[in-house]
Amino acid sequence: MNILILSGSPKRPGEGLCQSLIQAVQHGVREAGGQPSVLSFSGLPRCRVCGEGWGTCLETQACAFGADGFDSGHQAVKQADALVLVTPVYFGEMSESLKAFTDRLRRCEFSRQEATRGKQALLVASAGGSGNGIVSCLNQMERFCQHTGIKVYDMVGVNRWNSEYKRAALLAAARGLVSALGKSAP
Ligand SMILES: Cc1cc2nc3c(=O)[nH]c(=O)nc-3n(C[C@H](O)[C@H](O)[C@H](O)COP(=O)(O)O)c2cc1C
Repeated sequence: MNILILSGSPKRPGEGLCQSLIQAVQHGVREAGGQPSVLSFSGLPRCRVCGEGWGTCLETQACAFGADGFDSGHQAVKQADALVLVTPVYFGEMSESLKAFTDRLRRCEFSRQEATRGKQALLVASAGGSGNGIVSCLNQMERFCQHTGIKVYDMVGVNRWNSEYKRAALLAAARGLVSALGKSAP
């Protein structure tokens, strides 16, 4: 099973809370026999809001500016068996880089949901500062899933005080996600 982790972290592997959660997810996926891969989106331009609100995305399910790095991410989502969204909480929301990708993906997938419909996703919000904003961030990610036909497998909120047991929970969640996919395969 190909599990695609969409990362909102601007940091490198091994640095910080959010990356430690990504690592836990990767371990859990591997333990269950899946193949994890990680995509991050630092530097990806946000949606330009073409035309009068919709651009090519509504009719052709493709972004007119997709060559800027968006298309390869869209393709990776198409090929994934399930998704994991992991982001640091910024101002109670996803990081701007993950938001840039999911905003553009939502537009391309909204009408037909060919790459996303029915796929399961594990949603992870890591609030490493005050700990505020987990609920609003998860809510934003859930809305993205609703607009794209993605089924939420679980939502996990992590802060600096609960990260130890939440890392263990994430490992188990990732394992469970892969196992559940194996059971529903034809
Ligand atoms: C612009 C910005 C906004 C942030 N907003 C929040 C927030 O609303 N709630 C919170 O608990 N932490 C907030 N943080 C802290 C981050 O969630 C996170 O802990 C920090 O970026 C370090 O993440 P890391 O340990 O994964 O590298 C914010 C950080 C940045 C850079």
